[in-house]
Amino acid sequence: MSLPLIDVHTHMYLPRYVALLRQRTRVPRIVSRAGGDRLVILPDEENDTSTSAGRPIGGEFHEVRRKLAFMDKHGIAVSVVSSANPWIDFVEPDEAPALAAQLNDDLEAICAASAGRLLGFGVLALQRPETCAAELKRIAGHPHMRGVIIGSAGRGRGLDDPDFEPIWKAAADGGLFVFIHPHYGVGQNLFPDTGHAMMLALGFTFETSIAVALLILRGVLERHPGLKLLIAHAGGTLPYLAGRLDSCVKNDISKDFGLPRPPSHYLRQCWYDSIAYHGPALAALTAFADPARIMFGTDHPFFRPHVADDVLDKTTWPAPEENLQALSSLSAEQQKAIAYANGLAAFAISLP
Ligand code: URA
Ligand code: ZN
Repeated sequence: MSLPLIDVHTHMYLPRYVALLRQRTRVPRIVSRAGGDRLVILPDEENDTSTSAGRPIGGEFHEVRRKLAFMDKHGIAVSVVSSANPWIDFVEPDEAPALAAQLNDDLEAICAASAGRLLGFGVLALQRPETCAAELKRIAGHPHMRGVIIGSAGRGRGLDDPDFEPIWKAAADGGLFVFIHPHYGVGQNLFPDTGHAMMLALGFTFETSIAVALLILRGVLERHPGLKLLIAHAGGTLPYLAGRLDSCVKNDISKDFGLPRPPSHYLRQCWYDSIAYHGPALAALTAFADPARIMFGTDHPFFRPHVADDVLDKTTWPAPEENLQALSSLSAEQQKAIAYANGLAAFAISLP
């Protein structure tokens, strides 16, 4: 497919953040090993001292030049770049608001210098929720920022945290997207010794599904109908399970959430990336979601191919390519909408 892609799910660890991870002695951190630097971020990697702990990390994670090289190789015209997990979740509460502001200014500067190729999602100091509305207002004044990315865990109390109400209001008032993305996973005790595969395939997606379902059940989207939520990884499992969620809520005599409409109504207000890697999953997503609210994503620079660094930028990455190929199971109109038309409209992008 030779459509001019808009990539709305693509990450960077900004240089200031990489420096911070290199200083740390606990997860999340970057460890220098004989075979190259390794990114050790997942919660269950804390006690793993083997040389295979973490994942290889090179310049593709933090150099703008390499992001642009990936985009050029894969036909991506514009990327809406977000910081990658676990963002600044681990930073001391007193230091987090200033760091968030610095990282947001760093990303704005990177995007401003990109000749229209890059836009950004900032970060928030969720450990100090009372500071976030002001930061969102500041971000709304940054011409290249389109919203924020936040983890599905919030500050460890989920996205139905009552202290997040000002965040939802400020994002809705500022017309900013909130991109909801997993990091901590769920159910790891059920799948020991499975590397990262089960965690990323199922732990991540159920983490997102649970967090968003709770946010909806506690009335966040009923109170903030203008809030623009972008849900990672094709909505986790939600487009597939929305009917079951509706039925279980409706037929549960033990709890009344007091919502005037079923959960699926609010799920249809959300935006989704198309990172599903599979025609049948995309069929569920496109049958469920608003057709104008599904947008292409790659999850770059994760799922890096196993090739030497000096040929990486010239290599087609299999995971994003499989994800793109899955779109070919859709109609031409759907492909165009997801590949770029929806992204252009949602993020007010003019193609460079
Ligand atoms: N692995 C991660 O840690 N994060 C992603 O976004 C994707 C894969
Ligand atoms: Zn991601």
